[in-house]
Amino acid sequence: MRKFFAGVVFTLIAIAVGALLVVNLGWFPIGADNPPSSLERMMANRATDAYVSRHMPQGGNPIQPTVANLTAGAQDYQQHCALCHGGNAQHPSPMRDHFNPPVPAIATHIPGDPDAHLFWVTKHGIRMTGMPAWGGILSDNQIWTIIAFIKHANQLPPGVQTAWHDAATSDIAPLVAPAAGAPAANEKKLTPAQRELRQAEEEVRQHGPQPKPHTPPKRK
Ligand code: HEC
Repeated sequence: MRKFFAGVVFTLIAIAVGALLVVNLGWFPIGADNPPSSLERMMANRATDAYVSRHMPQGGNPIQPTVANLTAGAQDYQQHCALCHGGNAQHPSPMRDHFNPPVPAIATHIPGDPDAHLFWVTKHGIRMTGMPAWGGILSDNQIWTIIAFIKHANQLPPGVQTAWHDAATSDIAPLVAPAAGAPAANEKKLTPAQRELRQAEEEVRQHGPQPKPHTPPKRK
């Protein structure tokens, strides 16, 4: 029995040391041009689905799919999401296969998940992927409106179809400042790097761009 436990402990230590070596010796391929292994992908997908099911809001989409709402959703989708997720079939995303995990074309291959699931993913993002958290940039209402649009993207009334096409071909400046009515991001949840960036942005907003402090180049 003692030998058995010694074996278990030895195996655990060997695994931990192996993992440390892989990480510290630069053997773990972190480039976005390296597809994740199928095991990593499967575990990440399961974790995402389980976590979102547990945390998503109850109930359906509070936004009715009227022509006005779908048009607003199309415009917001085009402005904030199409760069990565692609527009209609004629306008696939230039980034579609430059992400790992790849970015799904959600307007042409509409996800079957409930609206509340898509709402949660859009509001909170998925970490370690290219999917940003839109909470604090878009209001909940805007997010629900975009989700209503995505869910109806294959059966849009002709007027909305035209508005979507117009939005796709016009030059809409990407949104940089939070939309009116968007809740402030939770400061406590920011990482030190995010907080630093936010402070720097605030300084630029108040005093204009600052000259870069001169740091002598490091010798290798
Ligand atoms: C910078 C690129 C980028 C932008 C911009 C972006 N996304 Fe994503 N999104 C991703 C990536 C990458 C994934 C895949 C994540 C994964 O596989 O786990 C994703 C996944 C999703 C999913 C999950 C799809 C599914 O089938 O479960 C939804 C929903 C989604 N995005 C909605 C949006 C919406 C709505 C917007 C605009 C408000 C948006 N995204 C903007 C990169 C982006």
